[in-house]
Amino acid sequence: MSTRVAALADLTLNQALRVVVDGTPIALVLDAQGEVHAIGDTCTHGDISLAEGFVEGETLECWAHGSAFSLKTGKPLTLPAYEPVPVYAVELRDGDIFIDPTVTKEI
Ligand code: FES
Repeated sequence: MSTRVAALADLTLNQALRVVVDGTPIALVLDAQGEVHAIGDTCTHGDISLAEGFVEGETLECWAHGSAFSLKTGKPLTLPAYEPVPVYAVELRDGDIFIDPTVTKEI
C-alpha cells in the first residue's frame, strides 16, 4: 500500500532527501527534468546513507568511496559497489509523493 512520504515542495533540485517508509530507508531525488526518483538509501558497499551523497545527472554518488548508483535502475555504475539498490515506483498526487516500499520496479 502506498504511503505519503513527502511533499514535492520538500525536495530541492539535485539534492537527495532521506525518508523512512515502514522501516525502509529511501532516497528521493528531484532531477533537472522534474522527475522524482526513489532508490534504496543504503549503499550496497557499506552502511552509508546515499542521500548524504551527491546527485550527478542521473546518478546518486556515495560520499564514502564514490560508487555512483543509477537513479533509474539502481545499478552501481562505478566500483567499489557492485550490487544494485532497489528502485521504487513513485506516485505523485496533488503535490504529494507516495511510495509503496514493498513494490520495487522491474528494471
Ligand atoms: S560505502 Fe558506498 S561506496 Fe563504499
